[in-house]
Amino acid sequence: MAARRRDRRNSESTTKKVDSSILTSSNHVAAKSFVSFNHILLILFILLSIFLVYHYRPSLTVRELPEDLSVHDGGFVKTKISPQEILSEHSRDSINTTKRSFVNHVLAYVTPWNSLGYEMAEKFASKFTHVSPVWYDLKSEGKKLVLEGRHNADSGWISKIRANGGSLVLPRVVLEVFSPEFLLKKQLRSNMIKVIVNECKDMGYDGIVLESWSRWTAYDVLSDTTMRNKALQFINQLGKALHSEKNTARRLNLIYVIPAPSSQDLKDHDFGPDDLQKLGDVVDGFSLMTYDFSSSLSPGPNAPLIWIRSCLQILLGNNDNYDANLASKIFLGINFYGNDFVISEGSTNRGGTILGRDYISLLEKHQPTFQWEKKSSEHFFIYSHDNDRHAVFYPTLLSMSMRLDEARSWGASLSIWEIGQGLNYFFDLL
Ligand SMILES: *[C@@H]1O[C@H](CO)[C@@H](O)[C@H](O)[C@H]1NC(C)=O
Repeated sequence: MAARRRDRRNSESTTKKVDSSILTSSNHVAAKSFVSFNHILLILFILLSIFLVYHYRPSLTVRELPEDLSVHDGGFVKTKISPQEILSEHSRDSINTTKRSFVNHVLAYVTPWNSLGYEMAEKFASKFTHVSPVWYDLKSEGKKLVLEGRHNADSGWISKIRANGGSLVLPRVVLEVFSPEFLLKKQLRSNMIKVIVNECKDMGYDGIVLESWSRWTAYDVLSDTTMRNKALQFINQLGKALHSEKNTARRLNLIYVIPAPSSQDLKDHDFGPDDLQKLGDVVDGFSLMTYDFSSSLSPGPNAPLIWIRSCLQILLGNNDNYDANLASKIFLGINFYGNDFVISEGSTNRGGTILGRDYISLLEKHQPTFQWEKKSSEHFFIYSHDNDRHAVFYPTLLSMSMRLDEARSWGASLSIWEIGQGLNYFFDLL
């Protein structure tokens, strides 16, 4: 598919027309002064034409967006996109940083290994209701608990986020405590909760984002009914403890990370609608990981829209009488990263995750042709390098915008992994 070209202004033929009409008139009028006047006009027209051609040259292929217009106003949210357009628009700085286009909650993850995320969180703080820096691991050494990660905490940055936008700051804590005792024994469960609540109080956090389900899955905690119930009980107690904490400036929140259900037929390790119901009152939000549908072993779209929809249907129900309060607590996961898969057979390198800057350099280098895959509602392109064929799936304004609309249609919230991996103009949609 050829890149769509905008109408070219036909400056050259305009110049010719002007040129010939002046020559004609000068043939008919003999007066010398008139001739020279016409010559001056001619030169002026030529200069004007050169100026116009030069001045508007970039807009022959890409329209530039005036300040204060959104990417929607600019007509950039569409299926037919070109590398040139993305290259010229992605980093534009005229985004209104205080305007919010998505009314429900928006949670932004940032990671210590990508400092761009910290910058984006500061810059677009007003667009996020929650910011979650990925800082902590809770581990056990024998019966002792160790909370690792305080060295990551950056109180200066937290103050700036709060000053810029007033969003809640909830560091992510990954539960790396594998001894079953910690779930089975009441005292040990309480100890885990105490460690977390104390860290929130000491550091002035607004609560935490807890990730434990993936670990419980990996360590087979969830296939045993007793253990599974204890695990749910732990989340319940943690939520209550955070909410009832009095000596803090603000109410402490608990956001809980959940995987996308594996299928309609729920397994023990799936976090299903019953679990959602059980925890709905004590958890403030569920960060739903609706990404990584494909992998380098089975290349394809990162998060097909129909799959995202079916995940929401499994969790909330198919009908129109789903619980709107629960739906608003689902923070639908959106990826700001993409994948560059090697699709040649027999290649040892299978490719993997790419960030915004990698994507931009691929566009510059290969000037690829984009394709829109309707079924998944994602753009992708193919390129070749060193005899290997690559397929690149990376979010675009349209793919993002359709996922935001899906969340809106359910009255759900959003979570973004992670904001330092995206392109500047993505934030215009939030
Ligand atoms: C940005 O958006 C806010 C909120 O919608 C609005 O009040 C403000 O005027 C906008 N700023 C500019 C420069 O358009």
